[in-house]
Amino acid sequence: MQNVSNRAGTDQNDTDAERAWEAEIDAMLASGALAGTAAQFAQPHGANLLGRMEQLEDWHARRSAHGVWQYARALDGAPHPIASIQDEAGVSARGINFASQDYLSLASHPVVAEAAARALQDAGPHSAGSAVLLGNTKTSLALEKAIGELVQTEHVTLFPTGWGAAFGAITALVQAQDHIVIDQFAHASLRQGASAATTNISINRHLDVAHVRELLAAIRARDAEHAILVVTEGLFSMDSDSPDLATLQASCHEYNATLMVDVAHDLGALGPDGSGCIGIQGMLGKIDLVMGAFSKTFSSNGGFVATKSRAVKRHLQLYAGPHMFSNALSPIQAGVVLQCVEIVRAEEGRLLRADLMRNVQALRKLLSADDLLCMGMPSAIVPVLIGSETVSRLVGKMLFKHSVFVNQVEFPGVPIGASRLRLQLMANHNIQQIKRAAAVIAGAVERATAAIDSGEARMQMRKVG
Ligand SMILES: Cc1ncc(COP(=O)(O)O)c(C=O)c1O
Repeated sequence: MQNVSNRAGTDQNDTDAERAWEAEIDAMLASGALAGTAAQFAQPHGANLLGRMEQLEDWHARRSAHGVWQYARALDGAPHPIASIQDEAGVSARGINFASQDYLSLASHPVVAEAAARALQDAGPHSAGSAVLLGNTKTSLALEKAIGELVQTEHVTLFPTGWGAAFGAITALVQAQDHIVIDQFAHASLRQGASAATTNISINRHLDVAHVRELLAAIRARDAEHAILVVTEGLFSMDSDSPDLATLQASCHEYNATLMVDVAHDLGALGPDGSGCIGIQGMLGKIDLVMGAFSKTFSSNGGFVATKSRAVKRHLQLYAGPHMFSNALSPIQAGVVLQCVEIVRAEEGRLLRADLMRNVQALRKLLSADDLLCMGMPSAIVPVLIGSETVSRLVGKMLFKHSVFVNQVEFPGVPIGASRLRLQLMANHNIQQIKRAAAVIAGAVERATAAIDSGEARMQMRKVG
């Protein structure tokens, strides 16, 4: 009897929970919290420059009211595999963290922390100048040398951010009459650098070297006088895939073009001695321009451009705005990155990369077994394609609630309709965390998909009724 009445109580609770869930979905759909994309608000019109932002703010308010605004969350503490996070509305949660970029877990490495403390002690907290106006330090010069050795491309210019390295290099090197051929999914820093440098931009289909060749041939057929820069990434940050660098580089030389490869996400975390996709593809020392960011594997802000030409480095020093006109990396940042490079190149780095890859393979296997599509190749980034922004926003909310933190990405990070969960793994995640996360993610995607389908059907019926 006791059991029967408990069962009846449980059934009632389940029904109540299901009704509440349906009501929540209906309210989200009716309010427009799950609709629209950032593309609608990107180019506001109106004479009042500041006032015309209000539509975006309304959209944010609708989404935020239902907990589906995924941006501007804050870490409370370090970016560890288990982390505390607060969302923009002040809701806190502690859980498994796949939203931070610390691929080899070097941000919590004691030797890296010691390097930061030593740099603070020796040189203070501040670079106190741009790199060309006494912002360099002994450590930053040693870092240039260490990066040059890591990518086997001697002449290295440092930048205060990876963004600045990409934007600064392209705008310094490419003149208005020149041409740029750029992968359709290249990072915003590269695309915006290209747009600031020239209007002669051709966009190649993602990873499609044959298309790059077609574009180069077409440009050279009409213009033999001006330079061409071809821009791609070693490992694409939203797709976790890599172009055929040897064919791309050979094609560039055939058409008197220059290749620039952004290795922000692969350098250090993949490849022999941490040499990234360039190393994996046997292209070390053979790429015209290698550009990278320290913020994914090397525990610091900062970026670099490496070239085989001293003259190119000289040009970047004088004409790359974020190098010349922005203060240099702080001594602490330079010391941290230098220490990280040392670990990356040592046996310890190899072991950390093996730990990272074990985690990546395990996660991809578990998610794929649940019929989720893990895009690209195994790397620290595991993009799980969802497609619809509506479903993906709901999944993001559910994962936060279940203490699994991932970045839910949509336009402008990826094309409209290609929304995805971007999971970033670290060497220090463990298999229990990965198993739990995979189960929660698979459950959330299934439940969200069903909830949106039935919620949209209810809306349709109400309209008809
Ligand atoms: C491919 C790529 N390039 C450049 C950058 C810019 O680097 P940072 O964030 O360190 O400035 C990023 C960072 O998001 C990136 O993903």
